[in-house]
Amino acid sequence: MSDPVLLDVRNLSVEFSMARSRMGLGPPRSLSAVSDVSMRVAAGETVGLVGESGSGKSTFGRAILRLGEVTAGEVFLDGQDMARARREDLARLRRETAMIFQDPYGSLNPRLTVRQAIGEVLYVHGKVGPGAAEARIAELLDLVGLDPALMDRRPGDLSGGQCQRVGIARALAIEPRLIVADECVAALDVSIQGQIINLLMELGQRMHLGMIFIAHDLAMVRRLCDRIAVMYLGRIVEEGPTEEVFKDPRHPYTRSLIEAIPEIDPARGLPSAPLPGEPPSPVDLPQGCAFHPRCPLARPECCAAVPPLVGPRAHRAACILAPGGRLNEAGGNLSETLSATPHERTMTC
Ligand SMILES: Nc1ncnc2c1ncn2[C@@H]1O[C@H](COP(=O)(O)OP(=O)(O)OP(=O)(O)O)[C@@H](O)[C@H]1O
Ligand SMILES: [Mg+2]
Repeated sequence: MSDPVLLDVRNLSVEFSMARSRMGLGPPRSLSAVSDVSMRVAAGETVGLVGESGSGKSTFGRAILRLGEVTAGEVFLDGQDMARARREDLARLRRETAMIFQDPYGSLNPRLTVRQAIGEVLYVHGKVGPGAAEARIAELLDLVGLDPALMDRRPGDLSGGQCQRVGIARALAIEPRLIVADECVAALDVSIQGQIINLLMELGQRMHLGMIFIAHDLAMVRRLCDRIAVMYLGRIVEEGPTEEVFKDPRHPYTRSLIEAIPEIDPARGLPSAPLPGEPPSPVDLPQGCAFHPRCPLARPECCAAVPPLVGPRAHRAACILAPGGRLNEAGGNLSETLSATPHERTMTC
């Protein structure tokens, strides 16, 4: 990461308070949606954030843009902590960041034309002088590959892909430096997904944007992202340069996610051992490593404490068996460590 750090998230946590049990008994409970997450994004860099449904990806994305709660931690944008920002600093955050959402229709007001939807952003952020809006809207539409002749259409007259391009044009209208794209192609046809990904790659490079790309689709993340962070139940369990993580996954959870992608190696067929079960409830997390109840490599030590993210250089994993982990100081890969330290599969935590 040679470019300057644009976003520096430190130990971010988001908790939601939950209703007491139906009987009204017991202490109020809370749900840890994001726990102690740190992440850096440089200008011009795209970081993929992946993980199963409910792992906290959207909560994290919303929290760093202050579109959602922050319970603890710091969110530095150019060195200024936005987690505690007040009104005028929040205005700066709004000017410099944008979020692109999953639902291309739902994220646009159905009553506004494309011209009004983009024009609104330009006016609110004071991006154009009187008389200049039309030309700027046409320029933005051109930038996202849309014919400016669509300017007077409404979302209902556009395809999903066209709506998503309008959503991206709206995000770009504020000239942001950081974009959080939350499952922004998941609702589109596969052929259109590729086009939008290409567009984001091109715009990211051309405009030197920092981008957090939240997705379920690992193959897409592999194409688009410089680095990847894998979340499980609110924590990052592995992070590193994308190719390193794909070629040498160090957390058993990452390994199972990658093994489940058929297109990585079409000759390999289906994964030999798909990940069993569902993640535990985030209201009642297991002790130690939250992945251990589903982990094919789990051992009693996994229940002792939440393993820290460790590893040589920028590729790190939160597993005691990963290189640099408590049971793997020799630094071998997961399979080597397993053969060196045989164990009973029965787990009692
Ligand atoms: N406003 C809220 N109040 C209470 N719990 C919430 C709230 N928002 C999210 N959660 C919970 O926080 C956890 C993380 O949710 P989040 O939507 O961030 O996950 P996600 O990784 O984005 O999932 P998906 O892939 O399905 O979009 C989940 O257990 C969810 O139920
Ligand atoms: Mg989400």
